[in-house]
Amino acid sequence: MNETLRNIKTRRVVREMSEEPVEREQIETILEAARWAPSGGNLRPNRYIVIKAAETRRLLRLVAPGMFQRAPVLILICTNWQVVEAHGLTARDRALLIDIGTAAQNIMLATHALGLAAGPVTSYSKEAVRIILNLPAHYSPEMFICIGHKAASARQGMRAWQKITWRDLTHWERF
Ligand SMILES: Cc1cc2nc3c(=O)[nH]c(=O)nc-3n(C[C@H](O)[C@H](O)[C@H](O)COP(=O)(O)O)c2cc1C
Repeated sequence: MNETLRNIKTRRVVREMSEEPVEREQIETILEAARWAPSGGNLRPNRYIVIKAAETRRLLRLVAPGMFQRAPVLILICTNWQVVEAHGLTARDRALLIDIGTAAQNIMLATHALGLAAGPVTSYSKEAVRIILNLPAHYSPEMFICIGHKAASARQGMRAWQKITWRDLTHWERF
């Protein structure tokens, strides 16, 4: 199978990670993959905050019930509202959410391609994250991607979904 297609198909969210560190060069490769994600109107409103410090990660886990991993690296995807407003867009513009999704997927696929593990997290207190990371008012914290090495003990999640094929999700031509 083509390497890109194999990478897409074998990526799974990992919620149990070891403390083994991730190399700086690997993080930069992942951030570059995010940079090449498609962006509505080529606006590129996403900004990325990389968190490695153990104490900051501990504080973030306290305010993020959806973060089951103890990942050595967190990438927080933020929307920069100065960029959005400079182009006359508002929070109602769906491209902003889609941009977060395209970046998140590029980050997760690049991470998987490097032999590392990734898991997205959207369940957290935005206000608490804002305070912990000292975010300026024009940055909103949209999605964490936890990055690390899969723990030897990690379980496989969502087995029922593995039975669903693209045919179950697709209509041809008309509904
Ligand atoms: C928008 C979005 C939000 C998500 N939020 C969380 C989260 O807060 N915590 C978590 O453990 N997984 C989260 N996930 C991961 C999904 O649960 C996961 O992608 C799904 O169960 C399918 O598993 P797979 O990606 O391994 O195929 C999120 C995924 C998406 C796309």
